Amino acid sequence: MSISEVNTHRQSEALYERARHVMPGGVNASARLNPALGHPLFFERGEGAYLFDVDGNRYIDYCVSHGASLLGHGHPAVVAAVTEAAQRGVLCACETELQVEVAERLLRLFPGAEMVRFASSGTETTWHALRIARAYTGKWGVVKFEGHYHGVNDTVGFSHWPPLDEAGPAEAPRAVPDSAGIPPANGELVTILPFNDVEALERTLRAQAGTLAAVIMEPINYDSGGIRPTPEFLKALRTLSRELDIVLVFDEILSGFRVGPGPALGTEVLPDMTVLGKAVGGGMPISAILGRREIMEMCSPVGPALHSGTYNAHPVLVAAAHAFLIEVTRPGFYEHLNALGDCLYAGMRDILARYATPAWVQGVGARFGLFFGLDQEPRNYRDMASQDMAMMAQFHRACLKRGVYLHHVSPHHGFSAAHALSDIEETLDAMERAAAEVVAA
Ligand SMILES: Cc1ncc(COP(=O)(O)O)c(C=O)c1O
Repeated sequence: MSISEVNTHRQSEALYERARHVMPGGVNASARLNPALGHPLFFERGEGAYLFDVDGNRYIDYCVSHGASLLGHGHPAVVAAVTEAAQRGVLCACETELQVEVAERLLRLFPGAEMVRFASSGTETTWHALRIARAYTGKWGVVKFEGHYHGVNDTVGFSHWPPLDEAGPAEAPRAVPDSAGIPPANGELVTILPFNDVEALERTLRAQAGTLAAVIMEPINYDSGGIRPTPEFLKALRTLSRELDIVLVFDEILSGFRVGPGPALGTEVLPDMTVLGKAVGGGMPISAILGRREIMEMCSPVGPALHSGTYNAHPVLVAAAHAFLIEVTRPGFYEHLNALGDCLYAGMRDILARYATPAWVQGVGARFGLFFGLDQEPRNYRDMASQDMAMMAQFHRACLKRGVYLHHVSPHHGFSAAHALSDIEETLDAMERAAAEVVAA
C-alpha cells in the first residue's frame, strides 16, 4: 500500500464499538484513544519501522511504542532470544544466569552504578527507587520537576502536564495531582520545581534539606519534548544534592540509550540512582533500578527496603534485554541513528520554516519534540505548554492521513534503528503535504 492511500479506519471503528463495552474508553491506556479520530487505532502487526492497522493501512512509526521499540518492531535478535527463552518453559520468580550477565552489561554501560535490581514497568522502578532512597536517607520528601513524568505511581504522580490555570506561580509551582484518587497527603511529600531554575533549586534544597530524601528527574525531559538541562543547572543539582545528603535519581526510561549506548548525558553528571525501562527490553516489559552499592544494599534481603515481584527479571524478558544490549553496542548503531536524526530534523525545520508560523524542532538523539508557535528551544514545561496545541493536533492528524504515525496527544516522538533514510525521505514528503494542509486550514 502506498503512503498516500491511508485513510479508512472502518475496522478500527468497529473494534472500538466492541471494545468500549468491555474496557473503559475502549482502551487499556488512556493515551491510546486518539481524540482527533474519536477512537483508538487497532493494530495488527509491526515490522521494522512500520505499523499495520487492522484496516491494512501502513504507517511509518514515530511513536515507536512510546519509546520502547528503539530497535524497531520484531527485531530478529529479540524475537530469537524471546523464542529460545520461552522454549525453556516460561518459568518465572526464580534466578537465572542471564540475569547476572545482563546486570553486568548494564553496569559497564552506566558508570557510577554498582548494583542492579530488575522489575517489569517503568512506574514500578520510580516507585521503588524512591522507596529505597527514603530508606537510605531516613527522610520522606521528594523534589520533582514540572513537566517531567515518572509513571502512574501515586508517589510522584504530580504536575506532569498540569493545566496552567491550576499550576501556580512559575518559580514555585503547586503539586497538581495527575489523577483523581491520589491522596492529597502524598502531595505534601512532593515539591515541584521549574526545570533549569538554579535559584529555585538551591533555595528549596537548602530550605528542605532535613526532610528531602531524593530529587528525581528526566536527565533530558523527553516527556515534554526533549528539553535539555543547562550545564549550570546540572552542576548545581549534583553539588547541592551531594552536600545535603539527598539522593539524585535519573529517570532514564525515555532517555537512556537514545543518545548513545548508556546514559543520555554520558558521564557529565553521575546520579546516585538510575531507572531504566522501555527500550532496554527491546519492546518487552522489563525495567531496572541501578545505583551505588550502599544505596542499593538497602534492598531486602540485605537491607530493610522491601523489593519484590513475581515477574522481576523474568527470563523471557531478560533474554530480550540481553539481545537489546548486544545490538546497541554494535559498531555503527548510533552512527545510523544520528544520520537518521540529522536528515529528519533538518528536513522538518526546512518544511516548517516554509509553511508554518514559528515552529521549533527539538531533536535530541533518537527522540524529538515538535512545538508549534515556539521560535526557540524551550527551557521548561511552561515554555513548552505555551505552544499552539490545536495546530499540533491538526498537523499530527494530517500526517496520520498520509501514513506517518506521530504520538497524537503528545509533543514527543522518536524513530528506531530499523528506520532507513528512505523512510525519512518518505516521511518528509508526507510532512510537506501535511504542513501545506494545516496552513491552508
Ligand atoms: C520518563 C518516564 N518514566 C517513567 C515512565 C513509566 O513507565 P511505564 O509506562 O513503563 O510504567 C515513563 C513512561 O512513559 C516515562 O517516560
